[in-house]
Amino acid sequence: MSSKSIAVMASGRGSNLKIILDAEAAGHCPVDVRLVICDKADAKALDIARQAGVPHVIHVNPKDYENREQYDAECADLLDKHGCQWIVLAGYMRILSSAFVRRFRGRIINIHPSILPAFAGAKAVEDALEYGVKASGCTVHLVDEVLDGGPILAQAIVPVLDDDTRDSLHARIQREEHIIYPATLKRMVEEGFTIKGRRVIWSK
Ligand code: GAR
Repeated sequence: MSSKSIAVMASGRGSNLKIILDAEAAGHCPVDVRLVICDKADAKALDIARQAGVPHVIHVNPKDYENREQYDAECADLLDKHGCQWIVLAGYMRILSSAFVRRFRGRIINIHPSILPAFAGAKAVEDALEYGVKASGCTVHLVDEVLDGGPILAQAIVPVLDDDTRDSLHARIQREEHIIYPATLKRMVEEGFTIKGRRVIWSK
Protein backbone atom coordinates (compact mmCIF):
# COMPACT_ATOMS: atom_id res chain seq x y z
CA MET A 1 0.00 0.00 0.00
CA SER A 2 1.46 3.37 -1.00
CA SER A 3 1.61 5.96 1.78
CA LYS A 4 0.16 8.44 -0.69
CA SER A 5 -2.93 6.47 -1.64
CA ILE A 6 -6.11 8.02 -0.37
CA ALA A 7 -9.83 7.53 -0.55
CA VAL A 8 -12.22 10.45 -0.30
CA MET A 9 -15.66 9.96 1.22
CA ALA A 10 -18.18 12.70 0.38
CA SER A 11 -21.91 13.34 0.49
CA GLY A 12 -22.49 16.57 -1.37
CA ARG A 13 -21.14 19.39 -3.44
CA GLY A 14 -17.58 18.09 -3.43
CA SER A 15 -15.71 21.39 -3.53
CA ASN A 16 -13.05 20.04 -1.16
CA LEU A 17 -12.76 16.88 -3.25
CA LYS A 18 -12.29 19.04 -6.35
CA ILE A 19 -9.59 21.15 -4.72
CA ILE A 20 -7.72 17.99 -3.64
CA LEU A 21 -7.98 16.46 -7.12
CA ASP A 22 -6.87 19.73 -8.76
CA ALA A 23 -3.92 19.98 -6.37
CA GLU A 24 -2.96 16.36 -7.14
CA ALA A 25 -3.20 16.98 -10.91
CA ALA A 26 -1.14 20.17 -10.67
CA GLY A 27 1.55 18.37 -8.67
CA HIS A 28 0.95 20.57 -5.61
CA CYS A 29 -0.26 17.77 -3.39
CA PRO A 30 1.57 14.42 -3.52
CA VAL A 31 -1.49 12.22 -3.01
CA ASP A 32 -2.99 9.53 -5.20
CA VAL A 33 -6.78 9.58 -4.95
CA ARG A 34 -7.61 5.93 -5.75
CA LEU A 35 -11.21 5.76 -4.62
CA VAL A 36 -14.18 8.06 -4.03
CA ILE A 37 -17.15 6.76 -2.05
CA CYS A 38 -20.46 8.67 -1.87
CA ASP A 39 -23.54 7.78 0.13
CA LYS A 40 -25.79 9.94 -2.08
CA ALA A 41 -26.56 8.98 -5.69
CA ASP A 42 -27.00 12.62 -6.76
CA ALA A 43 -23.87 13.97 -5.03
CA LYS A 44 -21.97 16.35 -7.31
CA ALA A 45 -18.85 14.79 -5.81
CA LEU A 46 -19.51 11.68 -7.95
CA ASP A 47 -19.40 13.72 -11.19
CA ILE A 48 -16.31 15.60 -10.06
CA ALA A 49 -14.50 12.33 -9.32
CA ARG A 50 -15.51 10.73 -12.62
CA GLN A 51 -14.50 13.81 -14.62
CA ALA A 52 -11.11 13.85 -12.91
CA GLY A 53 -10.55 10.20 -13.83
CA VAL A 54 -10.41 8.78 -10.30
CA PRO A 55 -9.92 5.01 -10.87
CA HIS A 56 -12.78 3.87 -8.60
CA VAL A 57 -15.87 6.02 -8.03
CA ILE A 58 -18.57 4.22 -6.09
CA HIS A 59 -22.02 5.10 -4.78
CA VAL A 60 -22.71 2.91 -1.77
CA ASN A 61 -26.43 3.24 -1.02
CA PRO A 62 -27.26 3.16 2.72
CA LYS A 63 -30.71 1.74 1.83
CA ASP A 64 -29.03 -1.49 0.72
CA TYR A 65 -27.76 -2.20 4.25
CA GLU A 66 -29.60 -3.07 7.43
CA ASN A 67 -27.65 -0.77 9.71
CA ARG A 68 -24.72 1.61 10.01
CA GLU A 69 -22.30 -1.17 10.96
CA GLN A 70 -23.06 -3.19 7.82
CA TYR A 71 -22.85 -0.10 5.62
CA ASP A 72 -19.51 0.90 7.14
CA ALA A 73 -18.18 -2.68 6.83
CA GLU A 74 -18.87 -2.58 3.07
CA CYS A 75 -17.09 0.78 2.76
CA ALA A 76 -14.19 -0.52 4.87
CA ASP A 77 -13.78 -3.56 2.60
CA LEU A 78 -13.70 -1.26 -0.45
CA LEU A 79 -11.05 0.92 1.20
CA ASP A 80 -8.85 -2.11 1.90
CA LYS A 81 -9.51 -3.70 -1.49
CA HIS A 82 -8.26 -0.56 -3.23
CA GLY A 83 -5.24 -0.18 -0.94
CA CYS A 84 -6.12 3.18 0.58
CA GLN A 85 -3.74 4.31 3.31
CA TRP A 86 -5.69 7.47 4.22
CA ILE A 87 -9.43 8.05 4.40
CA VAL A 88 -10.25 11.68 3.77
CA LEU A 89 -13.75 12.83 4.70
CA ALA A 90 -14.84 15.81 2.61
CA GLY A 91 -18.35 16.82 3.53
CA TYR A 92 -19.22 13.21 4.43
CA MET A 93 -22.35 13.66 6.50
CA ARG A 94 -22.67 10.21 8.08
CA ILE A 95 -21.42 9.39 11.55
CA LEU A 96 -18.88 6.56 11.36
CA SER A 97 -19.45 3.44 13.47
CA SER A 98 -16.85 2.73 16.14
CA ALA A 99 -15.87 -0.52 14.39
CA PHE A 100 -14.92 1.54 11.32
CA VAL A 101 -12.97 4.05 13.40
CA ARG A 102 -11.12 1.23 15.20
CA ARG A 103 -10.23 -0.50 11.92
CA PHE A 104 -8.64 2.67 10.47
CA ARG A 105 -7.52 4.42 13.66
CA GLY A 106 -5.16 7.31 13.00
CA ARG A 107 -5.80 7.12 9.25
CA ILE A 108 -9.14 8.97 8.97
CA ILE A 109 -9.06 12.74 8.41
CA ASN A 110 -12.01 15.13 8.48
CA ILE A 111 -12.59 18.80 7.78
CA HIS A 112 -15.14 20.65 9.87
CA PRO A 113 -16.45 24.20 9.36
CA SER A 114 -15.69 25.63 12.82
CA ILE A 115 -12.80 26.11 15.17
CA LEU A 116 -13.15 22.93 17.19
CA PRO A 117 -13.91 22.18 19.93
CA ALA A 118 -16.53 24.92 19.39
CA PHE A 119 -19.58 23.97 17.35
CA ALA A 120 -19.16 20.27 16.66
CA GLY A 121 -22.02 18.63 14.78
CA ALA A 122 -23.90 19.00 11.53
CA LYS A 123 -24.96 22.68 11.92
CA ALA A 124 -21.60 24.22 12.80
CA VAL A 125 -21.96 27.36 10.67
CA GLU A 126 -25.52 28.16 11.85
CA ASP A 127 -24.57 27.41 15.45
CA ALA A 128 -21.57 29.78 15.32
CA LEU A 129 -23.71 32.57 13.82
CA GLU A 130 -26.47 32.05 16.34
CA TYR A 131 -24.02 32.05 19.23
CA GLY A 132 -22.65 35.40 18.07
CA VAL A 133 -18.95 34.58 17.80
CA LYS A 134 -16.87 37.23 16.02
CA ALA A 135 -14.49 34.70 14.50
CA SER A 136 -14.94 31.19 13.20
CA GLY A 137 -13.08 29.04 10.71
CA CYS A 138 -12.28 25.44 9.93
CA THR A 139 -10.45 22.51 11.46
CA VAL A 140 -8.71 19.51 9.92
CA HIS A 141 -8.58 16.70 12.45
CA LEU A 142 -8.13 12.99 12.93
CA VAL A 143 -11.33 11.08 13.48
CA ASP A 144 -11.91 9.14 16.68
CA GLU A 145 -15.04 7.84 18.39
CA VAL A 146 -16.07 11.30 19.62
CA LEU A 147 -18.04 13.36 17.08
CA ASP A 148 -15.64 15.99 15.62
CA GLY A 149 -13.41 15.19 18.60
CA GLY A 150 -10.07 13.77 17.35
CA PRO A 151 -6.61 15.39 17.53
CA ILE A 152 -6.27 18.60 15.50
CA LEU A 153 -3.99 18.74 12.46
CA ALA A 154 -4.66 22.31 11.27
CA GLN A 155 -7.00 25.24 11.76
CA ALA A 156 -7.71 28.51 9.96
CA ILE A 157 -9.68 31.47 11.26
CA VAL A 158 -12.05 33.87 9.47
CA PRO A 159 -13.94 36.90 10.80
CA VAL A 160 -17.70 36.79 11.28
CA LEU A 161 -19.21 40.00 9.85
CA ASP A 162 -22.32 41.75 11.15
CA ASP A 163 -24.30 41.12 7.97
CA ASP A 164 -23.23 37.51 7.54
CA THR A 165 -25.76 34.86 6.62
CA ARG A 166 -25.13 31.14 6.89
CA ASP A 167 -24.16 31.09 3.22
CA SER A 168 -21.81 34.09 3.29
CA LEU A 169 -20.01 32.81 6.39
CA HIS A 170 -19.80 29.29 4.99
CA ALA A 171 -18.36 30.64 1.70
CA ARG A 172 -15.66 32.54 3.65
CA ILE A 173 -14.86 29.41 5.68
CA GLN A 174 -14.74 27.27 2.53
CA ARG A 175 -12.12 29.56 0.96
CA GLU A 176 -9.88 28.64 3.92
CA GLU A 177 -10.86 24.97 3.77
CA HIS A 178 -9.67 24.89 0.18
CA ILE A 179 -6.26 26.14 1.29
CA ILE A 180 -5.70 24.12 4.45
CA TYR A 181 -7.08 20.74 3.34
CA PRO A 182 -4.65 20.07 0.47
CA ALA A 183 -1.83 21.73 2.44
CA THR A 184 -2.48 19.42 5.41
CA LEU A 185 -2.65 16.31 3.21
CA LYS A 186 0.66 17.30 1.65
CA ARG A 187 2.25 17.70 5.09
CA MET A 188 0.73 14.42 6.25
CA VAL A 189 2.23 12.49 3.33
CA GLU A 190 5.58 14.29 3.14
CA GLU A 191 6.35 14.95 6.81
CA GLY A 192 4.18 12.72 8.93
CA PHE A 193 3.33 13.35 12.56
CA THR A 194 3.24 11.79 15.98
CA ILE A 195 0.57 12.21 18.62
CA LYS A 196 1.30 13.15 22.22
CA GLY A 197 -1.85 13.11 24.29
CA ARG A 198 -4.20 15.14 22.13
CA ARG A 199 -1.43 17.08 20.41
CA VAL A 200 -0.34 16.40 16.84
CA ILE A 201 3.40 17.02 16.54
CA TRP A 202 4.51 17.45 12.93
CA SER A 203 7.76 15.69 12.10
CA LYS A 204 9.51 18.70 10.48
C1 GAR B 1 -17.48 21.63 4.20
O1 GAR B 1 -17.65 22.97 4.59
C2 GAR B 1 -17.08 20.77 5.38
O2 GAR B 1 -16.34 21.48 6.33
C3 GAR B 1 -18.43 20.39 5.93
O3 GAR B 1 -19.22 20.14 4.80
C4 GAR B 1 -18.80 21.00 3.75
C5 GAR B 1 -18.64 20.17 2.51
O4 GAR B 1 -18.39 20.98 1.41
N1 GAR B 1 -18.33 19.23 6.75
C6 GAR B 1 -19.08 19.05 7.82
O5 GAR B 1 -19.93 19.83 8.19
C7 GAR B 1 -18.79 17.75 8.58
N2 GAR B 1 -19.35 17.80 9.87
P1 GAR B 1 -17.95 20.37 0.02
O6 GAR B 1 -18.93 19.23 -0.29
O7 GAR B 1 -18.11 21.50 -0.94
O8 GAR B 1 -16.54 19.89 0.14
